[in-house]
Amino acid sequence: MIDQLTRIEQEAREALAAAGDAESLEGWRVAYLGRKGRLTALLRSLTELPLEERRAAGGAANRLKNDLEAALAVRREELEGRRLVAIETGRLDVTLPGRAKSVGRLHPVTQTLRDVLAAFVSMGFSVVEGPEVESDYYNFEALRITKDHPARDTMDTLYVDITHDGEYDVVMRTHTSPNQVRVMEKTQPPIRVVVPGRCYRNEATDPTHEWMQTQVEVLAVDEGIGMADLKGTLFQFAKRIFGQDRKVRFRCDYFPFVEPGAEMAIDCSICKGAGCRTCGGEGWIEILGAGMVHPEILANMGYDAQRYTGFAAGMGIERICMLRYGIEDIRLFYADDLRFLKQF
Ligand code: DAH
Repeated sequence: MIDQLTRIEQEAREALAAAGDAESLEGWRVAYLGRKGRLTALLRSLTELPLEERRAAGGAANRLKNDLEAALAVRREELEGRRLVAIETGRLDVTLPGRAKSVGRLHPVTQTLRDVLAAFVSMGFSVVEGPEVESDYYNFEALRITKDHPARDTMDTLYVDITHDGEYDVVMRTHTSPNQVRVMEKTQPPIRVVVPGRCYRNEATDPTHEWMQTQVEVLAVDEGIGMADLKGTLFQFAKRIFGQDRKVRFRCDYFPFVEPGAEMAIDCSICKGAGCRTCGGEGWIEILGAGMVHPEILANMGYDAQRYTGFAAGMGIERICMLRYGIEDIRLFYADDLRFLKQF
């Protein structure tokens, strides 16, 4: 009897290893474990044996039955796994690694910020950072935005509650431009830097204004730098981020810390330039201010302003992100609305 069991087990295991699909597995189950299968037949025939022998053989036969059932389950799982891989790849590749679980992705603004920095790094710029809480000096004064200057109104500020001589002295930075001064103070030309950072303003919000924004400041100081370098660099950047087909508008603007000053806009991706709520009917969305670093600032830094010139630009990353993905309201980015973020 035990010999018979050993033979059945051997045969059964060989046949199981040879069964390559669901159909042959079922045939195998019927042949060995089914009601008319070999093991069942053997178990039935046990009744003819004397009690002592029947117990021993019965135990062994039941153990074998359990073992074969377990082996069947393992084989079934193995074949199912291979079948799924084969379906997905059109062929069987047993060396495939396990499939990684998807755990989410970068926020679209973070992705855009990284792409913008990468565009400038590829043109030879380095990335540096500066403080989010600034002194009035760096945020305004050193950039020729004096206390009574009207430009202060366009950057209504969030003050930090620390006073100095009875005046608010510390602000949440309203732009990344103070880093122009911070970098020039401790570096000699040639300079090529980009400075990313969050900026804050006491804004009445609208589709293109939020009270917090991410900016990237660009600064290049060297001998012989001119407007052509400014324009060439910024156009190259725009092509890389927006593609060849988008329109770029470049025109004069005023900022106290540059001379001459300019602004750059991209045709609105919501209305394709026709005018809509997002672009305020303009057809264009301004993404950056720029200009030649004011010679007075160069001189204040101790540079020879005859020898060195520079250009600077400051851009809004949320707006760039809006234009890239066709998002109609800047306030959606930080509205904690996961349905909005899920589309990315
Ligand atoms: N800092 C300005 C703003 O936030 C933008 C800007 C304008 C930056 C001109 C510059 C520049 O570097 O040259 O509105």
